[in-house]
Amino acid sequence: MNLVVVSNRVSRGKPNEPMTGGLAAALLPVVEKTGAIWVGSSGRVRDGNLKEPFAEVEALGAGALAMLDLPAAHYGGYYEGFANSALWPAMHSRADLIRASREDYASYREVNAFMARALLRFRKPDSVFWVQDYHFLALGAELRDLGVTQPIGFFLHTPWPARAVIAGVPNHRELIEAMLSYDLIGFQTDEDCENFLSYVQHDLDFELRDGVINSSFGRTRAAVFPIGIDPGKFAQQATKAMTHPDVTRLRRSLNGEKLAIGVDRLDYSKGLVNRIKAFDKMWTLHPNLKRSVSLLQIATPSRGAIEAYGNLQSEVAKLVTDVNGVHGEVDWTPIRYLNKGFGQGVLAGLYRTAQVGVVTPLQDGMNLVAKEYVAAQNPADPGVLVLSKFAGAANELDAALLVNPHDIDGMARTLATALAMPLTERRMRWEAMMEKLNSGTIQQWFADFIEALQDTHHSAGNAA
Ligand code: UDP
Ligand code: G6P
Repeated sequence: MNLVVVSNRVSRGKPNEPMTGGLAAALLPVVEKTGAIWVGSSGRVRDGNLKEPFAEVEALGAGALAMLDLPAAHYGGYYEGFANSALWPAMHSRADLIRASREDYASYREVNAFMARALLRFRKPDSVFWVQDYHFLALGAELRDLGVTQPIGFFLHTPWPARAVIAGVPNHRELIEAMLSYDLIGFQTDEDCENFLSYVQHDLDFELRDGVINSSFGRTRAAVFPIGIDPGKFAQQATKAMTHPDVTRLRRSLNGEKLAIGVDRLDYSKGLVNRIKAFDKMWTLHPNLKRSVSLLQIATPSRGAIEAYGNLQSEVAKLVTDVNGVHGEVDWTPIRYLNKGFGQGVLAGLYRTAQVGVVTPLQDGMNLVAKEYVAAQNPADPGVLVLSKFAGAANELDAALLVNPHDIDGMARTLATALAMPLTERRMRWEAMMEKLNSGTIQQWFADFIEALQDTHHSAGNAA
């Protein structure tokens, strides 16, 4: 098998550089170990002949990375436009934030078609194509139009919303029909898969049996493959990171005070505003927790050219300033707020230093930070995970303290409970969560998806 993985964002795997999002973090070890070729955007754009895509190829462990310059005329409409101002808000059930012009949709389709042409260069008779995420919903259809008969799978890293929300995306019908060129479509949770199938059944009126859609576009299977991490590697990184200068400086600065940690892209799906309000409430309700616990919030800048993201950045910054102004003391800052990223080797140590991991998205496909926080803990004295019930990770990590991120008072109470939790209960919960992480690793996710893709392709009577 010659695996070709495709995504918009790729990672070069430099150990000290932050991962930009869970997709890149998850795929990197898979590509490095399996020898796949990973094709994605170089982050640069290029004018001129769109018929001959240019890719720079370099080694990545046992695999390779091919980085493509995307067409300058369409990049903005594709990335900031249709992908991140129509599909991303829709996938996270924020229909109110959907903004998309006809031109954006046209650019999105152009970039999907461009990527399909670029992939032909990497096609071999035994190729298997695996497309990642909402940037490339129509890529399978474009590949089929170019005569590709090999297996093509698709995995969605975000949630899939209810029918009424996806119907708010311009051209939704055309796009979802295009998705039916994939042999296999993978989702993070049962709910995502059910929402998708419900649209296909009710809005497209196609026949459905045991998760298989029979349509005029062929046979497509939809199934659930919750993405995981490599818990062993994270635990090792965490132990090693405890001597990293950033981690030792953090520990020294705490002076015995407890720490809660949040690590998120600055994205409206992450629930940052409600989280900070919950800490405000907690310090108001429990003044004894002032000086005895602070929050380290790492909020890495993301998609800054999009208005909704710019607005969020200002809102969160103001809120942090207000809360620090109200609760702070001459020698104590309640919230340490950082707009920058860390390599995972340092991040693991920051997670391990914190007694509470706070992961409270309003909606999230999986949320790998939740899983990484658990894996990084000291088994003898583990911290507590406070986790939104609307993160995909809550399905597996049900031994976390699950919260409703819209209920600020409830979150404030749960944070106080987490901080006071006795060691026996912390260990019991942590062990239950580690069991889940060890049985659903990233390696298992990869193997399960590829096996299902090949089975589905062959059972549909396709020869390749
Ligand atoms: N991450 C990182 N450095 C940072 C912040 C985050 O390497 O400073 C990584 C983090 O370890 C995780 C990923 O980025 O693997 C975030 O994935 P998640 O699924 O939590 O959220 P996403 O950003 O994909 O929505
Ligand atoms: C989420 C998406 C990924 C994306 C990442 C970072 O994890 O599912 O597809 O790569 O966010 O966002 P960015 O727009 O910077 O690639």
